[in-house]
Amino acid sequence: MLRKRGSFIFCGTFLFVTWNAILVLLLWGRPQPGQPGQPGEASQEQGAPLEILSDDVVGDVLRMADTFEAELERQKDILLQIQKHQPLWESSNANKVKAVAPKQPIIPILVIACNRVTVRRCVDKLLQHRPSAEHFPIIVSQDCGHAETAEVIRSYGDKVTHLKQPDLSDIAVRPEHKKFKGYYKISRHYRWALNQVFRTLSHSSVVIVEDDLEVAPDFFEYFRALLPLLKSDPSLWCVSAWNDNGRDGYVDPGKADLLYRTDFFPGLGWMVVREVWDELEPKWPASFWDDWMRQPEQRRDRSCIRPEVSRTLTFGRQGVSLGQFFDKYLRYIKLNTEFVPFTKLDLSYLKEETYKQNFEKEVYSAPVVTYEAVKQGQLTGPGPFRLQYSSKDSFKMMAKNLGVMDDLKSGVPRAGYRGVVSFISRGRRIYLAPPPGWSKYDPTWS
Ligand code: UD1
Ligand code: MN
Repeated sequence: MLRKRGSFIFCGTFLFVTWNAILVLLLWGRPQPGQPGQPGEASQEQGAPLEILSDDVVGDVLRMADTFEAELERQKDILLQIQKHQPLWESSNANKVKAVAPKQPIIPILVIACNRVTVRRCVDKLLQHRPSAEHFPIIVSQDCGHAETAEVIRSYGDKVTHLKQPDLSDIAVRPEHKKFKGYYKISRHYRWALNQVFRTLSHSSVVIVEDDLEVAPDFFEYFRALLPLLKSDPSLWCVSAWNDNGRDGYVDPGKADLLYRTDFFPGLGWMVVREVWDELEPKWPASFWDDWMRQPEQRRDRSCIRPEVSRTLTFGRQGVSLGQFFDKYLRYIKLNTEFVPFTKLDLSYLKEETYKQNFEKEVYSAPVVTYEAVKQGQLTGPGPFRLQYSSKDSFKMMAKNLGVMDDLKSGVPRAGYRGVVSFISRGRRIYLAPPPGWSKYDPTWS
């Protein structure tokens, strides 16, 4: 915008000067009256004395010269004035440009709600930590038609946009899936809500939060910092706030700024861009959308970014999965409390090639230790250490006994990257890793 205006001035000035130069040349080169076909120049070259010009002609020429001089003086003044006002004019325009095309993108936060009034805890935290209403509009999409919950959402007034999923009809499922009906409803709601965000409201990215999640102080800062990487790197398809193994004691609290790539789709506070939604929407599943995302056909070898220390915490014991994992793992996930200025950090280490190389080097140059040594706390030295697994069973045994998630989805361990799960055990960094030369996951590991 600014550049265009600048070149406009330049062109104008150029045309102005050129036009006048042409005018001067034309007038000077004009044949003199009374001397048809005899340009003054030629007669001077021939040494013709000035006296042969009549007084009339001399007067004409002098008057013309005076007019030109005055005109040139006026032009000089105008140009000087333009020059003088340009800096002022440019800075006022720069402000205008900022307002029209904000450098900061707009990232809506989509809250998925249903029938729990505790959505208040989620929305309160979002509002508490949100740095800008303009750049992070909050959209609460409500399923289930629960009046009390609707009232809670309504009470925020125009601080949030309240959408209501219109199709509350029963979903017919096969008899053995009766107990999973909730997962069908969740899936239907997700499809509708994401279509609202991307199609109806035309956003180009979104952060999805469920109504039983509480966000960390740097939640917004984290997503804002990672959007450019997510948009530019086709090997990534999401950024998540969640570390599946982020329990207290299993993460390094001194490394709140540490981020990873993971091949496991973590969900639970995650950002996605429209292109990915355009790809998934036509084949969106009727149920279990998150495990469906974890299948190779959907993931297509793409990774997500996740933090060492989670930026979301879940407080939803009463949910569709009936607290299955909640009491065992989820309730212990540590929520980050320290604000990390991610937008001011160099995040280039997360780029695929750089990351892959450094990660492999870090993991495979770490000394191999035995499971017993880790379990019994017999490790000496600061670490990191590598603990090798060679089968699904050895992975599960070690993961379970060391307190990290032992389930695999489509062969990918939770929080894993290239088969490697990173965690802290008794204060030391452990990489639970497959043998060197890993090339792909085995989807039959589950
Ligand atoms: C689990 C996952 C969740 C995922 C869901 C679907 C965890 C901790 N949670 O849900 O991320 O989306 O499986 O596979 O791993 N909801 C509706 N309509 C309903 C019922 C629920 O929209 O009819 C909404 C809830 O408001 C909530 C979300 O769906 O935002 C998940 O429901 P919840 O009851 O929390 O189920 P989880 O077992 O946690
Ligand atoms: Mn939940």
